[in-house]
Amino acid sequence: MSSTTFRIGSFVLDNRVFAAPMAGVTDRPFRMLCRKLGAGYAVSEMVTSRKELWGTLKTSRRADHDGEQAPIAVQIAGTDAAMMAEAARYNIERGAQIIDINMGCPAKKVCNKWAGSALMRDEPLALEIAEAVVAAAAPEGVPVTLKMRTGWSDDRRNAVVLARRFEGAGIQMLTVHGRTREQGYKGSAEYRTIAAVKATVSIPVVANGDVDSPEKARQVLAETGADAVMIGRAAQGRPWIFREVAHYLATGDLLAPPLVAEVRRLLLAHLEDHYALYGDFSGVRTARKHIGWYVRSLPGGEDFRARMNAIEDCKAQWQAVADYFGQLGEQMDRMPAIADLQPGAPDDELATDAFA
Ligand SMILES: Cc1cc2nc3c(=O)[nH]c(=O)nc-3n(C[C@H](O)[C@H](O)[C@H](O)COP(=O)(O)O)c2cc1C
Repeated sequence: MSSTTFRIGSFVLDNRVFAAPMAGVTDRPFRMLCRKLGAGYAVSEMVTSRKELWGTLKTSRRADHDGEQAPIAVQIAGTDAAMMAEAARYNIERGAQIIDINMGCPAKKVCNKWAGSALMRDEPLALEIAEAVVAAAAPEGVPVTLKMRTGWSDDRRNAVVLARRFEGAGIQMLTVHGRTREQGYKGSAEYRTIAAVKATVSIPVVANGDVDSPEKARQVLAETGADAVMIGRAAQGRPWIFREVAHYLATGDLLAPPLVAEVRRLLLAHLEDHYALYGDFSGVRTARKHIGWYVRSLPGGEDFRARMNAIEDCKAQWQAVADYFGQLGEQMDRMPAIADLQPGAPDDELATDAFA
């Protein structure tokens, strides 16, 4: 594979900087924004393989790909091979062009109820699921990819063994988050296991975990030899990180942070898209976390967040954001550079809630 071309099946991606699936965050409006701002690829939030939930509003919103740029990648989660195969077929019928299997979620509820990284503990079942999903997707010409962690626990770091088996089962790309299931989001991601996976298989490997700047992206690519990097939490409230990383990888130069006026425009458009998907009642509530992330490192951001959280109406929320960024633009031209941001606490709470 050349350093500039990245393929999944017949899809050629624009670059090697991907947006991570994040339940409750990477809905269609946010994914489309990430793509527009430079992400070469974006995976949907996971969709359960439990059929009885497919009709729920939550799942149907997650399966909404209206206007989304190809390739449309849908992540599925479950513990039963036949159900996972059916979920793959169901999502392909609804527009999925790539199916991603979730073996990366650490949250307890997922491990008890469904699957996620719990599957890494049961290698025969993990393999059975991979084979069943590949068999279901192959007749449609849909590639199947898989996202996992480095292992179940420190002494059961089995990503390399599994990677070889998944490749044999026909999985076409592997993403590895450099933490074990036991770690949750604690500690730091390690990249040695990702490098070992990359050295073992010949399908593309994507490195994930704690990539939060252009320099870190380059370091992780160099350390792992991976074909791409995937960014999750660092894109919350900073979706332009994708173009910053892509530009740096391509040229070695750092882009200037975006103008406040541009971010005002992007965020207001993001909100409009968000309200259109969720409706007024849910829209105003689910938009709060996004707005909070955008303003967290800005002057007066915490006060604004507290005021904004009390607003119960989309129009008033939109206007408050427009006014806040309008006033901010009078104080500063550009957003703070990544290097000037305070490191935020890991969003453990939210990650756990999101899987409920
Ligand atoms: C709020 C939240 C939701 C997540 N949801 C998913 C998910 O649905 N599927 C998945 O494979 N990983 C999920 N993850 C894990 C991320 O895709 C990613 O592997 C992890 O956050 C590490 O990358 P980062 O350090 O760049 O954030 C989620 C993470 C967060 C913080």
